[in-house]
Amino acid sequence: MTGLDLTGRTAIVTGASRGIGLAVAQAIAAAGGNVVLTSRTQESADAAAALVGGTAIGVAAHAVDEEAAQRCVDLTLERFGSIDILVNNAGTNPAFGPVIDQDHGRFAKIFDVNVWAPVLWTSLVHRAWMGEHGGSVVNTASIGGLGHEANIGLYNASKAAIIHLTKQMALELSPKVRVNAVAPGVVRTKLAEALWKNHEAAVAGANALGRIGEPDDIAAAVAFLVSDAASWVTGEVMVIDGGQRLGYAPMFQRGAALGV
Ligand SMILES: NC(=O)c1ccc[n+]([C@@H]2O[C@H](COP(=O)([O-])OP(=O)(O)OC[C@H]3O[C@@H](n4cnc5c(N)ncnc54)[C@H](OP(=O)(O)O)[C@@H]3O)[C@@H](O)[C@H]2O)c1
Repeated sequence: MTGLDLTGRTAIVTGASRGIGLAVAQAIAAAGGNVVLTSRTQESADAAAALVGGTAIGVAAHAVDEEAAQRCVDLTLERFGSIDILVNNAGTNPAFGPVIDQDHGRFAKIFDVNVWAPVLWTSLVHRAWMGEHGGSVVNTASIGGLGHEANIGLYNASKAAIIHLTKQMALELSPKVRVNAVAPGVVRTKLAEALWKNHEAAVAGANALGRIGEPDDIAAAVAFLVSDAASWVTGEVMVIDGGQRLGYAPMFQRGAALGV
């Protein structure tokens, strides 16, 4: 799909049972890589691995469960002999509404899964393999981490934090390990359903490219970032959003500015 070669590389993709994570696993496998897909349940992880096919395997691991994460790292090394790629993709958003109306439980869950888990998995993989042999890490941020939106302020703050930490880790783990992030706009997945499901035409029509994102749009960017084609890219945040962040496109499109 991507035209990139990841033959002989092994990747762990967290939160890969569906959506962007599954598409990323498929893109890495299509480029020749081995993939370990995680989910909170073994059943979903196995089902996703079966969809990917080839050498892919599924492992149950809640993203913030350190013992499960370590088991996943150990199993990956036993099975494939290396961990060259880590895609921290698992993400959650249980909070909707103004930030001052949220509670500590929701705050902690968002920051545990979206911010702490990528740091935890990166540290485990670094200790087990990448620190000595090198590798590439991609964190899944969001364009929400680059601006402000109504009702998802805590989620967006967690994505701003992972953008900051991506750059921090890019420096701390250099020169052997590259650490980058992707920042998707609205993508057709379960997590983002509230943002597009009942008003897709309006959301799609607002951005420059006239459609919402598909998981494969993000997967192609991740496959690039973990490949040798990006060997001089680190600490970068790649926005993939159809132009959503540029502004309300219909106002700019031919004829609109003159009101004709
Ligand atoms: N869709 C968008 O518009 C959009 C935009 C910007 C950023 N993102 C980010 O993209 C990433 C993927 O989201 P998605 O849109 O693809 O959502 P999705 O389709 O709902 O998939 C979320 C995945 O994360 C897994 N997951 C959730 N909580 C987990 C946990 N605690 N531990 C381990 N796995 C967990 C789920 O697996 P199980 O349920 O099987 O455990 C599932 O595989 C997230 O980081 C999200 O914040 C999405």
